[in-house]
Amino acid sequence: MAAAAAVAPPVVNVVALCGSLRKGSYNRGLLRAAMDISKSIKGLEIEYVDISPLPFLNTDLEVDGTYPPVVEAFREKILAADSILFASPEYNYSVTGPLKNAIDWASRPPNVWADKSAAIVSTGGDFGGGRSQYHLRQIGVYLDLHFINKPEFFLNAFEPPAKFDSDGNLIDDSAKENLKEILLSLYAFTLLLQGKCV
Ligand SMILES: Cc1cc2nc3c(=O)[nH]c(=O)nc-3n(C[C@H](O)[C@H](O)[C@H](O)COP(=O)(O)O)c2cc1C
Repeated sequence: MAAAAAVAPPVVNVVALCGSLRKGSYNRGLLRAAMDISKSIKGLEIEYVDISPLPFLNTDLEVDGTYPPVVEAFREKILAADSILFASPEYNYSVTGPLKNAIDWASRPPNVWADKSAAIVSTGGDFGGGRSQYHLRQIGVYLDLHFINKPEFFLNAFEPPAKFDSDGNLIDDSAKENLKEILLSLYAFTLLLQGKCV
């Protein structure tokens, strides 16, 4: 009897967003590591989308229901994604201004976040950005985003041994394993949400 042909796993397209704009951002380093790890997860595709070109939200920039070209391009990326991976550093116990700005632009009508799955990772001082994660989950209620509950990923970037190299690349193996668990959970949860369980 001929062997059954292998069935390709369903594809989940993830857009990765980082709340820090600085070049050596550790949170951006988490996303680079996640993109690297995703190569070992069949069906999971991650695209990094830079939020730094977005202007400050100003509804005066909306003309006859259209948005500035750079905003439209960002909104289209979000709309086309199945899922969002946020790297959300903590500024003053909350999400960063740039990330909130990007979220707000894509929430303008029609809200392009709706019905998507999402996961959050963060790194920083003491709690590793955890407080920003819980604010982001709250924002997601109104956006109709659906976050994975577990596992959670917080990484203290400043406790020895070093977690990042001088370019902001993640060098900690156990953090990489934890990141992989996040990605596997996000992949499975996205399929569940879309009714495509395998
Ligand atoms: C304006 C500002 C506010 C911050 N507030 C907090 C904070 O409330 N809690 C915390 O743990 N770290 C705080 N930090 C530290 C950052 O979270 C930390 O530097 C982190 O590494 C920044 O992320 P990045 O490396 O991706 O740029 C703050 C940093 C800045 C610039």
